[in-house]
Amino acid sequence: MKITLPVIAINFKTYSESVGKKGLKIAKAAEEISNDTGICIIIAPQHTDIQLIASQVEVPVFAQHIDPFTAGSHTGYILPEAVAEAGAVGTLINHSEHRLILADIDEAIRRAKEAKLKTIACSNNPEVSASICALSPDFCAYEPPDLIGTGISVSTAKPEVVTKAVELMQKINPRVIPLCGAGISTGEDVTAAIKLNTRGVLLASGVVKAKDPKAVLQEMAEAAQKTL
Ligand code: G3P
Repeated sequence: MKITLPVIAINFKTYSESVGKKGLKIAKAAEEISNDTGICIIIAPQHTDIQLIASQVEVPVFAQHIDPFTAGSHTGYILPEAVAEAGAVGTLINHSEHRLILADIDEAIRRAKEAKLKTIACSNNPEVSASICALSPDFCAYEPPDLIGTGISVSTAKPEVVTKAVELMQKINPRVIPLCGAGISTGEDVTAAIKLNTRGVLLASGVVKAKDPKAVLQEMAEAAQKTL
């Protein structure tokens, strides 16, 4: 399944509003809006919902994490091949809420590539963004942890830091596609992120915990469409 730019990636996290059938409802809304606007919308459900969602909607489904292991005697971990088999086409790596050491980020990216998964590697500041880009993920999403879940958008509250992160990412590895996230809640936040030379956003509560997730997502996708 092709991922086009700009991209809106929705991290379902472990919110009660996005688990199971409730997550499928958001995913179906994302599919309808993506078809309507032509904007690529990635969905990252909990691992137990990957198969449910990937089998019923035509949007790119990502895992929220994979472990840098190969098949064998490991217990309670998630293999890249297992999420690919369930229908995922990519995975987040090193989200601030599931942080890894650099060596494990490197191995997770390598293992994801072996399983033909696209990778959105997350970073918490511009310097970490640069370090992660040296490991050649497909995307790097800069997300200041202090803004995650606040509704205060990184693209309007910290534009200068987004600019610095994107510049460092491109300097280290221009093949990595820069994203940003944290507090993204409106179409205006999406427009601002793209104007700061990112190629899209990674978000969660702005859509998942909205009174009307579909309406918010429609507004965001239309804003992204206007930047084309
Ligand atoms: O992965 C995206 C997430 O960390 C951002 O959270 O709720 O501020 O959109 P939120």
